[in-house]
Amino acid sequence: MAKDVIIACDFDSKEKALGFLDKFKGTERKPFVKIGMELYYAEGPEIIREIKKRGHKIFLDLKLHDIPNTVKKSMAVLSRLDVDMCNLHAGGTVNMMKAALEGLTRADGTRPYLIAVTMLTSTDEESMRKDLWIEKPIDETVMHYAKNALEAGLDGVVCSPLEAGKVHKACGENFLTVTPGVRFEDGEAGDQKRITTPKKARELGSDYIVVGRPITAAENPVEAYKKCVRDFLGEECRATEREE
Ligand code: C5P
Repeated sequence: MAKDVIIACDFDSKEKALGFLDKFKGTERKPFVKIGMELYYAEGPEIIREIKKRGHKIFLDLKLHDIPNTVKKSMAVLSRLDVDMCNLHAGGTVNMMKAALEGLTRADGTRPYLIAVTMLTSTDEESMRKDLWIEKPIDETVMHYAKNALEAGLDGVVCSPLEAGKVHKACGENFLTVTPGVRFEDGEAGDQKRITTPKKARELGSDYIVVGRPITAAENPVEAYKKCVRDFLGEECRATEREE
């Protein structure tokens, strides 16, 4: 199964995002990138086409959550952008996830990966009880949502690297775990609480690590990316200049 490092391109403009990606122009490996709401809402679908044209794989992180019919139709539109991975909230129910999958599937049967956000990492047990009226423990709820995603036919979930093993055990080794919360040993944690290194994430069984600031805010983003790839995939990533 494919494993990869996904760079979270959390920028608020096309200029900043493309300026960042320009740094990778001469590199042999085009990074898989995650485009979230901030950049998508700022620039619209054109930014996806532009980044796709440059040869990057794209995880479009828009976390859809609406009635099944609306999600189905919206997923059909996103699928036409030819992204490689999309996501939604598992809280939208199994029916919504099934509808999303239908919408995402193109006439020729191909589709991007579809993964589910279980419980956002910003939600804790207290807010689950107080705001959402969910009395079950958070880890049981996360696993229940992951199993719902599996039942709906999705490809995996976003989770902490620390949960990757448990998710694979409950949903199978082929069920993808896409894991943010990654930091280098000597790096700043920032607002992330439960963090692991790329190497540890690999040992824990993550399929894709999502890495933002450790790469985007690094003095040398290309070197930071290469280190992530080496540590996570265990392979040398050559950033040799291409022969023009
Ligand atoms: O900069 P950093 O490495 O913390 O970026 C992580 C990325 O993963 C951000 O785009 C963040 O929104 C996203 N993410 C997360 N935790 C989740 C879901 C998504 O950090 N549970």
